[in-house]
Amino acid sequence: MKNKIIAGNWKMNKTRIEAEQLINALIPLVKGTKNTVVICVPFTDLCKAVKLTKGTNIHVGAQNCHWKESGAFTGEIAPSMLTELGVEYVVIGHSERRTYFGETDATVLARTKAALAAGLKPIVCIGETLEERNSGNMEKVLQRQVREGFKDVTEEELANIVVAYEPVWAIGTGVTATDEQANDAIAFVRSVFADMYGKEAAEKLYIQYGGSMNDKNAEGLLNMSEIDGGLIGGASLVAEKFAAVVNAHK
Ligand code: 13P
Repeated sequence: MKNKIIAGNWKMNKTRIEAEQLINALIPLVKGTKNTVVICVPFTDLCKAVKLTKGTNIHVGAQNCHWKESGAFTGEIAPSMLTELGVEYVVIGHSERRTYFGETDATVLARTKAALAAGLKPIVCIGETLEERNSGNMEKVLQRQVREGFKDVTEEELANIVVAYEPVWAIGTGVTATDEQANDAIAFVRSVFADMYGKEAAEKLYIQYGGSMNDKNAEGLLNMSEIDGGLIGGASLVAEKFAAVVNAHK
């Protein structure tokens, strides 16, 4: 089994002072892990996060980036603006961006390509809604998100990407997918990647689970064969809880 990549997605939470407190509390709690630890913080916390985590095993990510390097795109951030700060990862296509900000498979692909070109590691999110799952369309939706959202991504680029399978019905609801549901969906997603890139590339690809993952359910999820890590929302806002997720897999 691979070591895991555990990423916290703070979403729109934590002022600079709060970020400093959280990061300082987190550093000693995760320093012994073999897993990769990432915190994806609001843009305004990035500078502070990079500075505070220097020399530690915590990597810093942003939560979005644009597909152009500059221009008239009010409110957007260019990939090189992130790398300039020392940011390593960027979340792309989170379901909240797809739902509230009109993100599509095409914009996800464009942002992913630009992030890769700048040297960032994209954490690309996919996942079905409850309606899609209940109507028997889960595989169709996941298949479309992967085929469309990765259609111009090369095999070489895929090696720098993390995929996060986040069923929309499990995000922020307290309803986690069961270990088996998450494992089965990720196995399906991996089979689509295998079809596109070959078995070896698909096996190497890190595919995380996200959706109400916390200190209580992390061990079960992370022990599943297909689950290569977690993307954690609410539980990443409390140092002890996020550290417990990180340390749930030895
Ligand atoms: P929660 O862990 O709060 O359900 O959020 C998951 C998520 O959306 C991470 O990106």
